[in-house]
Amino acid sequence: MFIEINNIQKQFLNKDQSPVDVLKDINTTIEKGEFISILGPSGCGKSTLLNIVAGLTKATSGDILVNNKKIEKPGKDRGMVFQQAALFPWLNVMDNVTFPLKKEVPKREAEERAKKYLQMVQLGKYVSHYPHELSGGMQQRVAIARALAMDPEILLMDEPFGALDEQTRSRLHTQLETIWTETKKTILFVTHSISESIKLSDRIIVMGTKPGTILQDIKVDIPRPREEHKKKIIELEEHIMSYLKTEIDKVVSEELAI
Ligand SMILES: Nc1ncnc2c1ncn2[C@@H]1O[C@H](COP(=O)(O)OP(=O)(O)OP(=O)(O)O)[C@@H](O)[C@H]1O
Ligand SMILES: [Mg+2]
Repeated sequence: MFIEINNIQKQFLNKDQSPVDVLKDINTTIEKGEFISILGPSGCGKSTLLNIVAGLTKATSGDILVNNKKIEKPGKDRGMVFQQAALFPWLNVMDNVTFPLKKEVPKREAEERAKKYLQMVQLGKYVSHYPHELSGGMQQRVAIARALAMDPEILLMDEPFGALDEQTRSRLHTQLETIWTETKKTILFVTHSISESIKLSDRIIVMGTKPGTILQDIKVDIPRPREEHKKKIIELEEHIMSYLKTEIDKVVSEELAI
């Protein structure tokens, strides 16, 4: 198996130093080239899980293997697109994208790759702009171009399209599908959106909260292009919705109790 997630637990400390279980008994395996969505209510630990796979956060116990090698720290095999764009404010768009790339390839190649991916996310005309001159959605697209330009085997994406308008989001869905088909990357894609997860993924991991666990692992057996199978999409949407509603109700009632 390409990625093995074995018995991951994560505890954070409350302000009074008491431990809280954020992730509990997370077990799954992912094949090379799979497109996996991780879906779940706010606060269920999706970003935490992705950060552990990225090697940015340490699990309290359990381990993650990529190609039979235990993950200890971030690596070139895994590219991350964060929930917030995380650009360097003092670098322009081109330099933001080429910054990590320049350590790997000659400057000219770095710039060519950066241009290719910036054009793909429709920012070809903004290479000299600085992050503060861009909208939030544009900054997010720079971050996506930066991750793609590194050409990692595994792409970790934390709600990458959450801040985008519907049209841009839809265009990027198509572009991401093309990239995925052409390059056979393995993608872990965190999202709040049921329809986005059905549109894009081979499998949807549905998480519940308090503590974050895997509730369901759904294989999306709808042929692509999926738009042609509206009835099947709606059926699956309703199935997942009923599942998530129970979880979201749990979060809301706990918040109201505070
Ligand atoms: N560094 C930290 N210290 C303490 N608690 C944390 C820390 N990071 C996350 N948490 C807690 O862990 C839980 C899961 O957070 P996480 O960001 O993984 O959720 P999420 O599923 O990504 O939510 P969202 O959909 O809102 O992005 C939350 O209750 C959060 O308060
Ligand atoms: Mg998150």
